[in-house]
Amino acid sequence: MSEAKKSEWNSNFAFMMAMIGSAVGLGNIWRFPNVLYSNGGGSFMIPYIVSLFLLGISFVLVEYAVGYKFKKSIARILFTISKKLEPVAWFIVLVVFLIATYYVCVVGWDLIYIILSFTKAWGANPDLFFSSNVLQATDSLSGIFHFVPMVLASVFAIWVVAWLIIKRDLNDGIGRVNKILLPLLCLIVIGIVAFSLTLPGASIGYSQIFAPDWNALTNLNVWLAAFGQIIFSLSLGMAIAMTYASYLPDKTNLVDSAVTVAFSNSAFEVFNSIGIFSILGFMALTSGIPFNELVTEGTGLAFVVFPQVFNTMGGIGHIIGPLFFICILFAGITSLIALLEVVSYSISEKFDINRKKTTIMVCVIGFLISTIFTTGIGSTILGIFDAYLNNFALLFGILLECIIFGWIYKFDDLIETLNKNSKIKVGKTWKAVIKYILPICIFVFWIQGVYSTLTTADTLSVAIMLLLTAIVIIVPVILSKLPAANEEYYNTE
Ligand code: ALA
Repeated sequence: MSEAKKSEWNSNFAFMMAMIGSAVGLGNIWRFPNVLYSNGGGSFMIPYIVSLFLLGISFVLVEYAVGYKFKKSIARILFTISKKLEPVAWFIVLVVFLIATYYVCVVGWDLIYIILSFTKAWGANPDLFFSSNVLQATDSLSGIFHFVPMVLASVFAIWVVAWLIIKRDLNDGIGRVNKILLPLLCLIVIGIVAFSLTLPGASIGYSQIFAPDWNALTNLNVWLAAFGQIIFSLSLGMAIAMTYASYLPDKTNLVDSAVTVAFSNSAFEVFNSIGIFSILGFMALTSGIPFNELVTEGTGLAFVVFPQVFNTMGGIGHIIGPLFFICILFAGITSLIALLEVVSYSISEKFDINRKKTTIMVCVIGFLISTIFTTGIGSTILGIFDAYLNNFALLFGILLECIIFGWIYKFDDLIETLNKNSKIKVGKTWKAVIKYILPICIFVFWIQGVYSTLTTADTLSVAIMLLLTAIVIIVPVILSKLPAANEEYYNTE
């Protein structure tokens, strides 16, 4: 008998919460405000909404339909379509796993900042504190031999938390955690946004969202930025939607669910940006630092600019600070467990290992890889992993999925699957988007990503990217060649 037990969501609500939880993550909280601001403010909403429909919802629907129809892991789905496609599945699984290994690390930094924020222990110079005290960052290669104990411990803690969630049955673990963390996250964000709007100078910030730069619309890079944001934020190409949809019972309304998930994710990031911009407006007013210097990306915003803001806020900063970092923790964990579920499901199905054993194996190997990012040079390597996996690998995976499901697989079956129980119907337009428009857009985006990364990469980046390229080719081939322990795996019915 098969060890890998088939899971099923106990309610549509559990599935929706898990899907929204997987989408709402670091990308919404710290990536979006910067992307919005640097790409035309209010006018960015036009390419953003076009990307949401053209790319986001269209592609999520493919993954929904495929997962729901086959009710298998991505590895087994692609094997079923054609034996030759199995390495593509393992390529996607590996990319997702590698993303998880550094995603954990950023969530680990955040855990440290939750603790620091109660006493604002970063002091008067949060920038220096982050690089020297927290990361103990160095540019020297010898930094790889220097583990930073505090980061190592927090990364370990996040891996343990993730394991404790995913080792449980689907509904007890992932389902329940999303149902708890997501409402809490929304409540905290509503509280922070409401508070931020009362701050002096808030309007300097939020008015930027409503001050469109229409010229930006003629810039191709602005459109590419919108595509990039939708890909990262909706977790496209990571097979999460495919995995979660494969656990759905029959008679689920797929199209309406996909639209709800995509809109909820976008609503969250736009709403959250109003708070972030208002707080930065307050900072610009009180510190005299120009607003544009405050809107930095990612780690700079969360671990440098925001600690500065909390310093400026006085006593209330001791409350808003921890709440802000708790938001990042909740959003990060719900996305992380989704990434790990994709990996565990494929391994568990092919090698017939039960959930507990698979998840411990995934988390132990994942932790060992993550330790690289906990060294003195870890944050530099993390940046290289992030650029490579997002700009090259993930896009390539989406392109392959469009080709496989749009051209090789019987696409009309997917249309039928989606329309069976949904009020909103899909048809020829959707087919044209997946077969032609999306692959062309992704290809242009991919070439642009490859070009900009290669023209700016230093020797270390090139070396790591070459190594990663070898890994993402060799490991999937090996995993496909290994015989399945589960005879069911070869059943292509
Ligand atoms: N969608 C996830 C995020 O935004 C990966 O962080």
